[in-house]
Amino acid sequence: MIYLDNAATSFPKPEPVYQAMDRFARTSLANPGRAGHRMALAAEKMLDDTRHRLNQLFGGRAPERWILTHNCTDGLNLALKGLIQHGDHVVTTDLEHNSVSRPLRALEKTGVISLTRVASTQGYVDAEAIRAALEPKTTLVVMTHASNVLGTVQPIETIASLVREAGAFFLVDAAQSAGVVPINLDATPIDLLAFPGHKSLYGPTGTGALYVGPRTDGKIRPWREGGTGGDSSSETQPSLLPYLLEGGTPNVLGASGLAAGIDWVMERGPDVLRNHEVSLLQQVVDWAERSEAWGIAGRWDPATHVGALSLVAPEGLTPQDLGSILDVSFGIAVRPGLHCAPYIHRALHTFPDGTLRLSPGPFTTSQQIDRFVEALTEITAGVL
Ligand code: ALA
Repeated sequence: MIYLDNAATSFPKPEPVYQAMDRFARTSLANPGRAGHRMALAAEKMLDDTRHRLNQLFGGRAPERWILTHNCTDGLNLALKGLIQHGDHVVTTDLEHNSVSRPLRALEKTGVISLTRVASTQGYVDAEAIRAALEPKTTLVVMTHASNVLGTVQPIETIASLVREAGAFFLVDAAQSAGVVPINLDATPIDLLAFPGHKSLYGPTGTGALYVGPRTDGKIRPWREGGTGGDSSSETQPSLLPYLLEGGTPNVLGASGLAAGIDWVMERGPDVLRNHEVSLLQQVVDWAERSEAWGIAGRWDPATHVGALSLVAPEGLTPQDLGSILDVSFGIAVRPGLHCAPYIHRALHTFPDGTLRLSPGPFTTSQQIDRFVEALTEITAGVL
């Protein structure tokens, strides 16, 4: 299989991730914090180590500000439902994944919030358009760092500053950027940052994190309540981070893989990993430009792109059919369709069929990309 679906989840994982999980599962897979025996303590230490690594990689204020979540959606819901109050005005964009769009739309439909959705241009959000959308009652701006459909990277540093000036909270969905685009929380006024552990941090599925910055202290409410191990006599969720937001048994086995994945990223550096993926996409862009039959959705700018690219198929070929043919006849895995992000497909007129998205990873080779474009050329020749 040539796996070009790393934007959905990375595969394969680096070898140390498999090794760390195997070792941890065989020696230390107890319930962290729920007892004082040595296995429970080893499990608790694994969670702490993972928080320390996250804090180091992203320049956070303190390890306990890292809430270990089950995926990016979980972290985004913790943030949105923990902070939003009746009467709030929220600003978002048309690039968002349903993990942001659906909770916001549900809150809008039930009259809890008013919502402004800022339009992007060819996959990029202009910081001035965000500024123009801010109102005196805006309490939150939430947006993606990199579009999961187009791979375009947004100017979150500039936007973070203007949101902070306006006194609102800034929540960033870094699902496609964490691990491949440097994010420095120390230098950028981001209040909340959510991402999965299983994409470009190379942990297993079922992992993720939410950073909760100091401005949210005393304001963010627990959305998922339950056991935390310590403070069992408390009738409600303990107020101490990370336990305030971490009800239920944590995915400690997943954390063991995530910790190894973060080490792997830190050894190489996000820029090296992103450059590899973007250089592979450049091969596809060059081919698409030569082919004339194929289009690229959004603006291609390798300097502000992560390793995801949406191709617009020639007339007569649906992305769904192409995805099936690539899988069945060529052993190539891609993701066709709307990618859980319908608003940007509507804006780019690729709704309802969507596009054919490819997303190479750190182990993808140039030869595999050659094979991918040869397959598309062969399929197109049979139809056009
Ligand atoms: N959000 C993931 C994707 O873009 C699953 O494919």
